[in-house]
Amino acid sequence: MQALNTSVKVAVIGAGAMGSGIAQVAAQAGHLVYLQDQREGAAAAGKAGVAKTLQKRVDSGKMQQRDLDALLQRIQPVDSLEQLADSGLVIEAIIEDLDIKRQLFARLEDLCGEQVILATNTSSISVTSLGAQLKRPERLLGMHFFNPAPLMALVEVILGLATDKQLAAVIHATAAAWGKKPVFATSTPGFIVNRVARPFYAESLRLMQEQAADPATLDALLREAGNFRMGPFELMDLIGHDVNYAVTNSVFDAYYGDFRFQPSLIQKALVEAGRLGRKTGQGFYSYAEGATRPEA
Ligand code: NAI
Repeated sequence: MQALNTSVKVAVIGAGAMGSGIAQVAAQAGHLVYLQDQREGAAAAGKAGVAKTLQKRVDSGKMQQRDLDALLQRIQPVDSLEQLADSGLVIEAIIEDLDIKRQLFARLEDLCGEQVILATNTSSISVTSLGAQLKRPERLLGMHFFNPAPLMALVEVILGLATDKQLAAVIHATAAAWGKKPVFATSTPGFIVNRVARPFYAESLRLMQEQAADPATLDALLREAGNFRMGPFELMDLIGHDVNYAVTNSVFDAYYGDFRFQPSLIQKALVEAGRLGRKTGQGFYSYAEGATRPEA
């Protein structure tokens, strides 16, 4: 199956951690990318974040300045959804909330042409359910990147019950053309990675609650003895506790309250306190501005 031609315009909605990274990936592949966020200034800030990260590559000689300039020209922050109307692929990376995502897709269906492909970067919400109230549910699928999107190779291409298989094959080929390693998944709760990862976080949080060891010890242990790239607590800080807690709740509900997926009160407290992890400078660890490693 052919990947989308790079002349197809890509819109990314939600310019947070994931949206900005996905915009970078699509622009790197040669697409013109609209980046939209409902929060004023967020789309421009998302683009500035991409520029800052890639400038380091230029400074260290790994990228040419002219390639960076050309890439940045291809990312266009926009204010309103109306400005995305000529996109061929829209990737949604907004808040993990079924109703808000549904409203957005209904709006996009009206704004964009009938041939638009609608993709969600949801971590856990049923693609079937997101598409249920659409006029053309066959044009919606999951395109689930991992954090940070420019660095992580895997993309889950998720088919809801109504998703057109040919369309999923096009997105699979497109993800591959963007330098990713796509896999097909059906719309089960948490799909593949987030389903497998839930007990990783849940058991770590239980160990912490039982005072078996503190987060820094558990993280170091899993990194050094288990050869994980990141320990569970630093990974949760990277993901964002608001996002991770919403995902756990969604998988827990989807499995009718299965104890294995029960959300942790520790996570709930972090969310209530606004300690969302790296993005707020405080989670299980504190982060100095711009820090990429926790201050234990
Ligand atoms: P984030 O909190 O960093 O960014 C979300 C952005 O969406 C914010 O800038 C917010 O202003 C914007 N937004 C919210 N509602 C909007 C709307 N109606 N229209 C336009 N913009 C809106 O969140 P993050 O981490 O980027 O997550 C976004 C999505 O990606 C969620 O569905 C999440 O489950 C999923 N995801 C998150 C991963 C992670 O590790 N953080 C990994 C893979 C998927």
